[in-house]
Amino acid sequence: MKEVNSQSGGCFLVWTLAVQLVLCGRGVYTSDITKRCGLVSDSNSERKVLERLEPLAHKNFSVVTKEDKGSYTYTFQLCGEAAGFPEAGVVQVDSKSPTKSTIIGRFNSTRVIGGSDWVMLIYENGDAYDGHCSKEKRKAIIMISCNSKIGMGELEVVLEDRDRAHDCFYLFELDSSAVCPVVPSQLSTGSIIVIIGLCLLAVYLIGGFLYQRLIVGAKGMEQFPNYAFWVEVGNLTADGCDFVCRSRNREEAPAYRGVAAEPLEDEPEERDDHLLPM
Ligand SMILES: *[C@@H]1O[C@H](CO)[C@@H](O)[C@H](O)[C@H]1NC(C)=O
Ligand SMILES: *[C@@H]1O[C@H](CO)[C@@H](O)[C@H](O)[C@H]1NC(C)=O
Repeated sequence: MKEVNSQSGGCFLVWTLAVQLVLCGRGVYTSDITKRCGLVSDSNSERKVLERLEPLAHKNFSVVTKEDKGSYTYTFQLCGEAAGFPEAGVVQVDSKSPTKSTIIGRFNSTRVIGGSDWVMLIYENGDAYDGHCSKEKRKAIIMISCNSKIGMGELEVVLEDRDRAHDCFYLFELDSSAVCPVVPSQLSTGSIIVIIGLCLLAVYLIGGFLYQRLIVGAKGMEQFPNYAFWVEVGNLTADGCDFVCRSRNREEAPAYRGVAAEPLEDEPEERDDHLLPM
């Protein structure tokens, strides 16, 4: 009885661990950084797309551009202060005079659109243009594309389109595996069941072994749990094979079986006697 109790206790433990493992595997990226982004039109579908970007959180992505008028550093951060500038999702800093900074987009005014292997993140409400674009507010578009080989790629500037009357924007590109289509499942249900089965087998073998060795005091092969039973199973299997495969000498098999079975059947009783004082 004691053996059964300790083994079912072990099974319960393994089940709990396995279930937790599966749940943990699903919830690795449920930190809340993307909640810091304010969506212009708060919709659940946009939130879902935004959550796909979670692996990119907590990182300043920077790129330096050289134009005829000067050199600028653009920094992008996901739902956080880019390069430390309050409210800035994308900020442009003049390399010659680092105090001259322009916020291209604020993360409290975010829009996001996503497809199977890309996400387009738009930060609006940046600093207003001085002369271009009807003095509208600047806007940053970050196009994040799937690249399964790159966890977090380099930020690249594609263009600044400001020679138009309305809807000017800065366009950036970034490669990341975060937006790649989710592989159906790293662990299929079948393999989880196999893993749980192996765990249970291990618990059975180790628990049974310890029980036989420490409590029953068995030695040698007898230390295997339910040794007699498994020997009998082995013998029956061998008989089965013998029956199916052998083409002659069928008569000898029953005698062999009888000899093997007799001493084995006695043993469990001996062991039970041993148990009684406990
Ligand atoms: C981004 O850069 C700024 C300025 O260098 C720094 O204060 C901030 O901690 C950085 N953020 C992250 C998440 O590394
Ligand atoms: C975002 O922050 C700016 C600056 O504080 C503010 O003017 C603007 O109204 C905010 N936008 C939203 C949508 O909260």
